[in-house]
Amino acid sequence: MSLPQEKIAVAPAPVVLVGCGPGAADLLTLRALRAIESADVLVYDNLIGDEILDFARPDAEKIYVGKRAAQHTLPQEEINALLVRLARAGKRTARLKGGDPFIFGRGGEEMDELRAAGIAVEVIPGVTAAAACAAAAGIPLTHREHARTLVLTTGHSKPGAQDPDWEALARPGQTVAFYMGVRNAGEIERELLAHGMPGETKIAIIERGATARQRIHAATLATLTARIAAAAVKAPALLIVGEVAAYVGDGTDANSDSPAGSAKHTANE
Ligand SMILES: C[S@@+](CC[C@H](N)C(=O)[O-])C[C@H]1O[C@@H](n2cnc3c(N)ncnc32)[C@H](O)[C@@H]1O
Repeated sequence: MSLPQEKIAVAPAPVVLVGCGPGAADLLTLRALRAIESADVLVYDNLIGDEILDFARPDAEKIYVGKRAAQHTLPQEEINALLVRLARAGKRTARLKGGDPFIFGRGGEEMDELRAAGIAVEVIPGVTAAAACAAAAGIPLTHREHARTLVLTTGHSKPGAQDPDWEALARPGQTVAFYMGVRNAGEIERELLAHGMPGETKIAIIERGATARQRIHAATLATLTARIAAAAVKAPALLIVGEVAAYVGDGTDANSDSPAGSAKHTANE
C-alpha cells in the first residue's frame, strides 16, 4: 500500500550532516552525493579529499575547518557557530564528515547546537572506518567461530573523560576496533595486557583503509607499538583487535604489510 504523497514528503533541511565514508569517492552513498551536488556551501574537514569535493557545484563555497600541518582544528564551538550562521543566511549547507557522522565524528554535538538554534538537521549515514577497513583488509568483523560482539571505541578521549573499561575491552570472543588509536597505542597495549588479554592476540593496523593509499600491517598485542614505530604508521589508521585480525597474516613477520583479502587498493609506501 503506498502512502499519500503529503505523508511522505520531507521538508528540506537547512543543514545536512553528510557521512562521506573512508575517503574514496566510490564509497559515498548516492544520498551523500546528491547532498554534495546540491549544496550552496560545503563545510569539510581533513579526511575529505578533492575526489569528493569535486562533486560540488562549481559555484559552491567550500570552507575547510580541519587540521592542516602545524595548525589546529577550528574549535568545535566555532564550527557550530559557522553552521548556524550559514543556515540562517539561507544557504543550503552540507557539513561533510569522514565515515559516519554519528561515529566519533562529533555529529551529535553539531546536531544538538543546530537544533538548539532552531535549525533543522538531516543526517546522511556513511561507511564508517571499521566497516571500510575491515572490508578492504578481508577481515570479517564478526564471525560465528571467532567474534560474536563488535566494539567500536576510541584511543583518544577528551581531557578528563572517564577511563575506558579495559576489563570489558580485554574480553575474549569479541572484536574491538580502535579509532584514533595510533597515538595512544602504548596505553592500549599496556592496559589490554594488564587486563588479561594474551600478548599473542592478533591486531590489524590499517592506514587510510579503502583508499588508494591504504597500508595494512599485521601485529600482535605484544608487538603493537613496535610494529607501529617500525612501519611509521600515520593517522588516519584503525586498529582491529581480536581473532578475526588473523585474516591479514600471522603478526610476527616484519614484512607482513599485506594486500590481504580483497585489498585491491593496497599500496605499500
Ligand atoms: C574523528 S574519527 C572519525 C571517524 C568517522 N566518523 C568514521 O565513522 O569512520 C577519525 C578516525 O577514524 C579512523 N579513520 C577514518 N578514516 C579512516 C581510513 N580511511 N582508514 C583508517 N582509519 C580511518 C581513524 O582512526 C581516524 O583517526
